[in-house]
Amino acid sequence: MAAAPVGRKETRGARRTPLTVRQPTTLPASQQARPAATRAAILGLGVHVPARVLTNDDLAKIVDTSDEWIVERTGIRTRRIAEPDQAASDLAVPASSAALRDAGLSASDLDLIICATTTPDMIFPATACLVQDRIGAAKAGAIDLLAACSSFVYGVITAAQMIESGVAQHVLVVGAEVLSKLVDWKDRTTAVLIGDGAGAAVLGPSQNSGILSSVVGADGSAGDLLKLPAGGSRIPITAEAIQQGLHRARMDGQAVFKLAVRVVPDAIRQTVQKAGLTLDDIDWIVPHQANQRILEAVARAMDLPFGRFICTIDRYGNTSAASIPLSIWEALRDGRIKDGDHLVLVAFGGGFTWAACTLIWGR
Ligand SMILES: CC(C)(COP(=O)(O)OP(=O)(O)OC[C@H]1O[C@@H](n2cnc3c(N)ncnc32)[C@H](O)[C@@H]1OP(=O)(O)O)[C@@H](O)C(=O)NCCC(=O)NCCS
Repeated sequence: MAAAPVGRKETRGARRTPLTVRQPTTLPASQQARPAATRAAILGLGVHVPARVLTNDDLAKIVDTSDEWIVERTGIRTRRIAEPDQAASDLAVPASSAALRDAGLSASDLDLIICATTTPDMIFPATACLVQDRIGAAKAGAIDLLAACSSFVYGVITAAQMIESGVAQHVLVVGAEVLSKLVDWKDRTTAVLIGDGAGAAVLGPSQNSGILSSVVGADGSAGDLLKLPAGGSRIPITAEAIQQGLHRARMDGQAVFKLAVRVVPDAIRQTVQKAGLTLDDIDWIVPHQANQRILEAVARAMDLPFGRFICTIDRYGNTSAASIPLSIWEALRDGRIKDGDHLVLVAFGGGFTWAACTLIWGR
């Protein structure tokens, strides 16, 4: 494919050169960036977080921890926690409505809803069906997508494929999580990390912006590092399972940390190369927010300035599938992300899963 100019703002600073989508000759045709006419872009974004703020000092009253330890080891200062009667769909619905308003579309324009969640209201019906009903998206199909904290990026990539293939025109991807309901509030190694929230994106076709390339990956052999043992068909919820605490999330934090620092740089490099770009062309990396130290280690490993990573973990903690849309939203609000910017979204999580995509921000 011939080099195609892409619409973007003027370059900033010396590291940039006028940008074109370059196709490296080494990549097979199936891995080359798609032509602009068939791209899918994020047309609108919306978020919703619970009102209740839980500080590190609040947590120190529940478990043996301190503000100093949590800030130093994770970067987290506060997180939002859902009320007892708030489920994932209660966060997903307002986030989705806000995304539709931002896109200038109505629920009846949606062809598909993908709810990216590890904490669905129930196993079935899918939380996406509950959202479909509550926002009145009568024409839309609805599925849940579970790739733990990678679910939102997996969802965006899936939505883009549906749009590019012509199966759907407008797809809502909503990451909605209430990890507070699954965490063991007596376990200081997990309780201090998590937060609740939702972020939604409406995707549709775009001529000038949108997703250039994507990468998905998994290593099922590392599934035990991060899991919720009970509640499925292997270990149904029983009094005995509850007695053993199998209905609460478990994690080998150090192993997860090391795996994340290994897979995330590779995923970023692969998606950027597939897009025919170099790391210098990327304005912002929007990573899943699990631990600020993981992001700093990734930046060091890639020899990138940490300032190019959007980091919002201090305010929200790890909100799993909601963390990337929440971070994009924050960076749009404070003026960092602008139309024409090149973004890499990159996520990792239980499974072990990872996913990344490169996109030009804008409609
Ligand atoms: C969980 C995590 C924050 C722990 O940080 P760490 O620097 O690896 O800390 P360690 O596990 O080595 O523990 C160090 C010490 O702090 C203690 N500690 C653990 N959690 C603590 C807490 N919340 N408050 C105070 N002390 C704590 C440990 O008991 C240990 O004490 P010891 O030295 O007396 O044995 C970190 O490993 C991490 O973030 N891992 C990745 C988790 C993740 O990303 N999960 C989601 C993936 S999507």
